[in-house]
Amino acid sequence: MSTLDPKQVDAVVLVGGKGTRLRPLTLSKPKPMLPTAGLPFLTHLLSRIAAAGIEHVVLGTSFQAEVFEVEFGDGAKLGLQIDYVFEPEPLGTGGGIANVLPALRHDTVAVFNGDVLSGVDELELLRFHAEKNADVTLHLVRVADPRAFGSVPTDADGRVTAFLEKTQDPPTDQINAGCYVFNRAVIEALPRGRELSVEREVFPRLLADGVPIFGYVDASYWRDMGTPEDFVRGSADLVRGIAPSPALAGHRGESLVHDGASVAPGALLYGGTVVGRGAEIGPGVRLDGAVIFDGAKVEAGSVIERSIVGYGAKIGPRALIRDGIVGDGADIGARCELLRGARVWPGVVLPDCGIRYSSDV
Ligand code: GDD
Ligand code: MG
Repeated sequence: MSTLDPKQVDAVVLVGGKGTRLRPLTLSKPKPMLPTAGLPFLTHLLSRIAAAGIEHVVLGTSFQAEVFEVEFGDGAKLGLQIDYVFEPEPLGTGGGIANVLPALRHDTVAVFNGDVLSGVDELELLRFHAEKNADVTLHLVRVADPRAFGSVPTDADGRVTAFLEKTQDPPTDQINAGCYVFNRAVIEALPRGRELSVEREVFPRLLADGVPIFGYVDASYWRDMGTPEDFVRGSADLVRGIAPSPALAGHRGESLVHDGASVAPGALLYGGTVVGRGAEIGPGVRLDGAVIFDGAKVEAGSVIERSIVGYGAKIGPRALIRDGIVGDGADIGARCELLRGARVWPGVVLPDCGIRYSSDV
């Protein structure tokens, strides 16, 4: 039985992944806890769940599980009741869903990937699920390059006809947006206690068995935050109010500077830049779509574009960082250049002019 009342729906958020594509940032924090527009990413997702009227949330944790409970506790601050279910060994996305069964309270279960920034209307999704009499409903979106996602073709009635996870030649640009509605009975029938992929095993098996799975397609904001490019874009979109988040109600602007940060006169901040608590930005610095974590320091005349600077890292004068990541506590010397895809590991020290892409030092 499915319901339209969000109070009668459990939300499950999968947050047990290792976030390898965001290393080195995810060496010290799990991906859903990385600061995004000044808040742990998961706060944005949880505040959307609360705004939809869902009250009970189960977090399926594994990698660095402790930090979630330290941050969110029983959920009361967000108006939620949060339970935690820990996987000592990660069970995969399907195993994570099967594993939370004892914590579920209701017959309708909304499952969320913990790294997706989305504007989907959860109530419309629930309504669609009930109307179609579906056992499972998947939120689907269209993307330019579907190869990195689950490609999900549907028929004229919206019924899912196949699920192809990360293939080189996807049949459609309509992809799995990482948000599902399950009837509880489907979760009860999943094998427990073993590694299981919802994308590679559960959905294909259910489809082969003729279980009714439907796809709800919309054109709301959508981004998976799993890569550095997407993390930087998603953060900037939150700052500028392009991506929705009830947790940031009222904020909209070219940059967001947090308490205790100092920005010297003449520094230019735009493109959705975020400056964390206690960070220091020197004179003549240009930050375009930069994500500067708490306590970092950027010295005079440096330029940082579409890049992330970790906790307490230091960027020397007149450095250039474009499409890169500087790990926590790293120390980048004056006039270094770090371009497309550069990743500096935490604590690494680069001397002045230590890396350049041009010969005129
Ligand atoms: N509890 C638990 N246990 N959670 C896990 C595990 C696990 O073993 N493995 C991954 N997760 C969580 C991650 O923390 C993340 O929030 C979510 O499951 C999805 O994992 P990703 O690693 O981010 O998957 P993806 O981005 O490559 O692909 C998935 O998301 C796409 C949409 O964003 C798939 O579901 C694709 O089909 C989909 O298109
Ligand atoms: Mg992802």
